[in-house]
Amino acid sequence: MPKITVLPHAVLCPDGADIDAPEGTSICDALLDNHIEIEHACGKCGACSTCHVIVKKGYDSLSEMSEKEEDMLDRAWGLTAESRLSCQAKVGDEDLTVEIPKYTINLVSER
Ligand code: FES
Repeated sequence: MPKITVLPHAVLCPDGADIDAPEGTSICDALLDNHIEIEHACGKCGACSTCHVIVKKGYDSLSEMSEKEEDMLDRAWGLTAESRLSCQAKVGDEDLTVEIPKYTINLVSER
């Protein structure tokens, strides 16, 4: 089964984590199943961008990105070329390394 290495995040996962992620699971569900409480404000339907992650390794093995996801990602805080909405990106057959960005648009808009 593929593994996801989660890089340390000060609040959600201070020591980082290595978790199992069955093929076909979304990165978001894999994180939540392992008690890493990534935000998912729209209920994982690809309509918010708070579940944004940066996929440092294994990006090409993920399910393809839809146009809707691309549009939503444009609004994510700290967008990179390796960004995905974790609720839309399904694990393929390779191990992944994932970084959860420090902020989401929810926090930024509260300033
Ligand atoms: Fe809203 Fe993923 S939870 S886009």
